[in-house]
Amino acid sequence: MMKNLGKFALLIALVAFIALSSAWASEAKGKASMMKKPFGTAADVAYANNLWNKMEQLGYNSTPSVLFTGPPPHGQVIEVLEGKINGKRIIVKRNYYGKGITPNAVKANRSKYLKAITIMAKRSGYDPEDKNWFWVKYKPNGTIFKNKKGMPLAGRVAKGMKTGCIACHSLAPSGDMIYIHDKKLIKFID
Ligand code: HEC
Repeated sequence: MMKNLGKFALLIALVAFIALSSAWASEAKGKASMMKKPFGTAADVAYANNLWNKMEQLGYNSTPSVLFTGPPPHGQVIEVLEGKINGKRIIVKRNYYGKGITPNAVKANRSKYLKAITIMAKRSGYDPEDKNWFWVKYKPNGTIFKNKKGMPLAGRVAKGMKTGCIACHSLAPSGDMIYIHDKKLIKFID
């Protein structure tokens, strides 16, 4: 009898140990996957929505700049503005697409061709490895594009991946992840 009880206790201890260790393992996994999510979190979306509201208030979505044709992956016709939100640099790029599109056609009817607004906004301490930029791809109504996995394109977008905002902009020769240097193409707003 005693012998059986001993075995029983051992069995209980074993089951408890397995249950506990698998709980620890899944908690650790949860933490790891949270750390692996560099963009598209609720906090990133809230920050991006706030930026959008400021862009609207400051006229960054409505002020015209120089319309020019650009290479993929951005618009066929694009226009770039640079300004400041809360004292921090922001670069706003409107991307236009459409059949037979030309800068003049866009000039005559921007809203017909506007398909995406891509921005880079400096954010202190947010991502020191990648020059502290906060990246977003908005639709013309201010909602945020999502990738195929349903992750909103806001924050450290596609950090650690082979393609996407950060990977591609890392190749920009400026050293600050910015491609456009021809200041004539950018309208600056104070
Ligand atoms: C495959 C490369 C590539 C990817 C991916 C890419 N960009 Fe760009 N981006 C460029 C190039 C090239 C330019 C300059 C020409 C232009 O404006 O189209 C540019 C320009 C910009 C600019 C204007 C400032 C500058 O660097 O000239 C912003 C803002 C921008 N991209 C944001 C984004 C965001 C946000 C994403 C991700 C949603 C993104 N980009 C993804 C290549 C890329």
